[in-house]
Formats: sequence, C-alpha cells, structure tokens
Amino acid sequence: MSSKESWGSRVGLVLAMAGNAVGLGNFLRFPAQAINNGGGAFIIPYLVCFLLMGLPLLFVEWSMGRFGGQYGDHSTPFILNSMAPKKQKLWKYVGVFGIFTNLAVAAYYCYLESWTLSYVWHSISGSFHGQTREQVGDFFNQYVSLGTSEPVIFWVICLTLNTWILSRGLSGGVERAAKIGMPLLIMFGIFLAVRGVTLAAGESGAVNDGTVGLNFLWTPKFESIWDFKVWLAAAGQIFFTLSVGMGSIQCYASYLRQRDDVALNAMSAGWMNEFVEVCLGAAILIPIGVGYLGIDQVKTMVAGGSGFGLGFQTLPYLFQQWGPVLAAIAGMAWFGLLFFAGITSSLAMGTPIMGFLQDEFGWKRQASAWAFGFAVMVLGLPTVVFYNYGVFGEYDYWAGTVSLVVFAMLEIILFAWIFGMDKGWKEITRGADIRVPEMFKFIIKYVTPVILVGVFLGSLFSAGGIIDTIMNKAIHKQIAAAQAASDMATVDRLNTQLLYVNGSRLLLLSVFAGIAWMVYRAQMKRERTGKA
Ligand code: PHE
Repeated sequence: MSSKESWGSRVGLVLAMAGNAVGLGNFLRFPAQAINNGGGAFIIPYLVCFLLMGLPLLFVEWSMGRFGGQYGDHSTPFILNSMAPKKQKLWKYVGVFGIFTNLAVAAYYCYLESWTLSYVWHSISGSFHGQTREQVGDFFNQYVSLGTSEPVIFWVICLTLNTWILSRGLSGGVERAAKIGMPLLIMFGIFLAVRGVTLAAGESGAVNDGTVGLNFLWTPKFESIWDFKVWLAAAGQIFFTLSVGMGSIQCYASYLRQRDDVALNAMSAGWMNEFVEVCLGAAILIPIGVGYLGIDQVKTMVAGGSGFGLGFQTLPYLFQQWGPVLAAIAGMAWFGLLFFAGITSSLAMGTPIMGFLQDEFGWKRQASAWAFGFAVMVLGLPTVVFYNYGVFGEYDYWAGTVSLVVFAMLEIILFAWIFGMDKGWKEITRGADIRVPEMFKFIIKYVTPVILVGVFLGSLFSAGGIIDTIMNKAIHKQIAAAQAASDMATVDRLNTQLLYVNGSRLLLLSVFAGIAWMVYRAQMKRERTGKA
C-alpha cells in the first residue's frame, strides 16, 4: 500500500504542487493564447475564470484528495468512489479520466520536455551561433521530422529521468526535484523577464521597446468580452495551467495528513502559478518577440496557439543578437527554465498512475514507476514518429483540453451536490490556516458548476468545437477545396492525415477503455477481499 508515502515538509508540498501547475503552459501556451485572443482582450476573461473556476476547483480537488487519502485511495477512481454513496457505483468510472488524462498528456508532454533538454545543450554548445533565422527555424523542423536520431535519444533520457525520480518516491524524489527546480526556474525567469522588459528599440537590432509587447498584452479591450471564443480559450488556459481537471492535484493531496491545511496551501500553490504565468510567462516571449519582430509578425506566428514557433524557432535566433556569451546564457536560462517547468509537471502526471497500481494491485513503487515510464513511451511513440501528421495535436486536444472540462464538470457536481456542499465546506475548512471567504461556498455550489456546464456545452456545439472536430470538418473542407483545384497531392496528404488523426483517437479511446477495465478489475478484487 502506498499510504506509507508522504510529503516531507510543507514548503516541499507547496513547491511540488506549484511545480505541478507551473509548466510549459505558463511560458509557451499562455503567451500564445493571450496574443491569439487579442492581448488585452484575453486578460479579463482569464482573470475571471481564475477566480470563479480555477480557485474553486483547487479547493475542491485538494479536499477531495485529502478525503480519499484517509481511506488509502490515491487515484481518482477510488477517491471519487469514497465520496459517493455506496449505491452509486459509476463514479469510479468518472475517475478513469483522472488516470487517462495524465497518461495521455504525459505521452506528448514528455516529448516536448525532451526538446527543451536538447535545446539547453545546443544553446550551451553554441549550435545556433552565426546561424540565420531560417537556419534556426529549420533546425527545429529537422528535429521534429526526426532528421537524426537525436530527438529519440533525448526523449529516452528524459523518460528515464522522470522514471528514476518517481521511483525515489514523493519526499525523496518529487519533492526534492521541486525544491531544486522551482527556485532555479524562478531565477532564470526573472533574469529573462528583466531582459524582456528592459529591451530598448535600437539595441542589438531590436525595432521596438520591450514594453510595446507588454502594452499590447495589458491594455484592456473591453469589447471582446462579448466574444464567446475568447472565454473558451481563457477557460481552457486556466484548466491547463493550474492542472485542474486532471487528477494529479487530487493525487498529490491524497498524501496529506488529515490535520493538514488545504485552504492556504491550495491558495499558495495557485497564486504562485499565477505569478509565474502572468508576471514571468508574459514578460519573456512576448516583449522579446515583439521587440524584434513587431506585433503583426508575432501574431501570425502564434496563430496555431502553441508558441512552439516563437519559443523554439525564433527565440534562439534572437538571443544570438546579444553576442555569443549572453546568447549562451539566455538560451540556457530559457530552455533550462522550460525543462524545470516541464519535469515538475510530468512527475505530477506519473503519480496518479503509480498510486493506482500500488493501491489496487499491490505493486511496488519502483515497479509502478517503470510501468509509467514504459506506458508513456509506448503511447508517446506515435506523437514522436508522426508528429508532422497532427498526432501530437490530437492528444493535446482530447486529453489536454476536452477531458479536463468533462472531468472537472462531473467532479464538482459530485462534490457540491452528491457529497453535498455542507460536508464539502467542512472538508475545505477543516484544519485551514486561513478563513476561506464564505462566498466560496456559494461559488462552488452554483457558479462554478454553471460555468463548467456552459463551457462544456459551448465547446461541444461551437464552430470548430468538439462535434465539428469529431466530424473532421476542417480537414474535409480542405480536401474539398483541394479537389476543386484538382490538387491531388494535397488531397492525398490530407487523406493520410485523416487516417492518422482517426487512428490516434481510436488509440486514445482504447487506452481509456483499458483503464476502465482495470478499474473494474480493481473493484472486483476489492469486493472479493471485503475492502469495498
Ligand atoms: N499545468 C501544467 C502546465 O502549465 C500542465 C499539467 C497538466 C501538469 C496536467 C500536470 C497535470 O504546463
């Protein structure tokens, strides 16, 4: 039983939780989303979503985790089960999301994380020195199309490192990684943010002051708060960045002692994530990008929403304008920061899977860590090999976006309405080191669930939403256009892409079904041994 496992110290716990939340999402996804959705227009919906959806969900997930932990449950299927009435057996299958998303997100996330490791190396060894912007960009294209074996090597190193840290346990592995990684990340972040903010037009080739990009981001534009798409994007970013709707916070919290505080801890980790995202994450990519390239060019570069183009293809080139020494330092700081952000998050994705195997099937910690590493490798392989066919994007969409909303919506209904808000409130405030404003009781019961149902329905039916995506509407439209232009090469390429896209969905679906089946087996086992 993994209930022996526990956190070493409060600082360690908060850093680990902050490390869970602070990830690549803070430095790449946030700036890209913000620019894509109109800069200042994005910030208002974003902050509203943080207060009305993010913070309430943090309270809920932390208390759910601690609640399940008292029964020795460390993964969402049985945490949810412990909160539901005995007769309602289906909740544990809702909890399948909390294992599935971690595995599927880790599958593409660790690949991304391994790029940062490789780029640290290339920054220090001066690979980008003297290269043109095209050459630096091509380096990335070469990389993801597996022009060499290097990406695979770094990927395996990265997976092994994750597995090794996980196998050392919570306080000896995860907590220690956070204690080393988080301070370094913040230090690197401050260094680059200062560089970004103080960048002056005319200095080493910059055309704008760094503040031009910041102003774009921070000048509120009220008219676009009526744009539903912006709200969906803001909600999606809040989910991803806080790691809510994933199952990893519940798992971390399940290793708390029952007397431990959740209210203040949840607040601390949540606000720390916001500081890193809004103060550091916003002050690097955007001001430096806009400083050299101008707003319009930066806008077209992030149109896809990921920030890879700016972060991996352009920034290493721009750093070169600062001279070889500073370029190496800046490159190391930027990719090093991304690496620490990434690894403290991917470790969080491993723990629910390990907890599940340990709790239900009596696996040892080491064995379950290696099982996680192996599963990520198998499931990640398609994203590595077929990156250019959109497999990566499919994983991100279904596991990293849609599942989070569905799971969060269902878990808050369980918490506030089935478990009951009065009991729920007691859980949130039990042992609390701050007075949680009474208002949150109301918010958690009514406001957050309504927002979540709204977000879900919105993403289901909106143009380009879930239903359109299932029907592959966008690709079919492109195919029709290519056919009309009798461009058969494009038609072929799109048809192949369709194959890979549908294939990835089938794969993800079978992973989900496989986990559900394991939960079923675990339940049978519990009934046999009289634990259920
Ligand atoms: N919050 C992390 C980020 O911003 C991603 C993450 C999602 C981490 C889910 C853990 C679990 O990148």
